Amino acid sequence: MQTVAVIGAGQMGTGIAQTIAQHGIKVLLSDVDLARAEAGFAGIDKALGKLVGRGKFDPAEAEAILARITPVGDYAPMAQAALIIEAATEREEIKKVIFEAAGKVLATDAIMASNTSSIPITRMANHSPDPARFIGLHFFNPVPVMGLIEVIPGLATSKETTERVTAFAEALGKQVVLSQDEPGFVVNRILLPMINEAVFVLGQSTASIADIDKGCRLGLNHPMGPLELADFVGLDTCFEIIKVLYATTGDSKYRPAPLLVKYVEAGWLGRKSGRGFYDYSGEAPVPTR
Ligand code: 3HC
Repeated sequence: MQTVAVIGAGQMGTGIAQTIAQHGIKVLLSDVDLARAEAGFAGIDKALGKLVGRGKFDPAEAEAILARITPVGDYAPMAQAALIIEAATEREEIKKVIFEAAGKVLATDAIMASNTSSIPITRMANHSPDPARFIGLHFFNPVPVMGLIEVIPGLATSKETTERVTAFAEALGKQVVLSQDEPGFVVNRILLPMINEAVFVLGQSTASIADIDKGCRLGLNHPMGPLELADFVGLDTCFEIIKVLYATTGDSKYRPAPLLVKYVEAGWLGRKSGRGFYDYSGEAPVPTR
């Protein structure tokens, strides 16, 4: 693929754009307006700058990666993209509007993919111009570092589309797990109940934030405890995913932990808002309970 478009210049969209550009492919990066797309681009510049500072890239290589990324203010230039990846907020009504608008410029042989964490692909495909060329392509955060991409064909997705995005994911140096279009796919179906349960454990005062995370870091050898990871993913995103699991299965085991709901209502969304289960205002994160 020569050009790929990424819609959504937040944490996931910028990570996806950087990773694609690191593999020699041109990227068009968009958001609700050009200013937000440019802010995302500036974030990638900063991340690459840090890696240059740590000797991971030489400055010329970082420049070349950045030169492959173009922030754009509308969808028209995406007519040249072989693949459009939607990585917007995890809310179906927002995504639908994007598929309909970007679908108008989707080239006749191009693929439209969603980086949704949990929303059914088959249902969203109806808002794209051709459900046979619509698929789930689920990246993990931080995208440049994580080795996995989940590929999720919907009911109408063609075999060719699945094969093309699998080859694309592998060309990014990632390994692929193929999942049927079931709620939460594979990884989030397992991860989100764990995070949600950790919030129940906290809500019942079974242990402190620090001890819950320490328990999972040392007892399970996870790189981050579930509450640190929830802050990293974003508590609003965690809430949206667990709600989808609950709504699509009707199974009470996925009911959102009341404390998670409260944190989201308070605007304590994790790292991105400066406070979640930890406070990020100082040098190192401090547990808030
Ligand atoms: N580009 C390229 N490389 C990068 C990078 C970037 N933007 N950022 C970091 N790296 C590299 C670093 O250079 C470093 O390389 P090295 O090992 O060769 O030195 C390596 O990545 C690790 O980086 P750091 O040393 O800065 O960080 P840590 O060792 O503290 O690890 C972490 C940070 C990778 C985030 C680790 O804590 C971790 O794996 N946490 C769990 C992450 C996780 O579970 N993610 C999945 C979340 S769920 C999800 O995304 C799905 C969604 O739908 C909810």
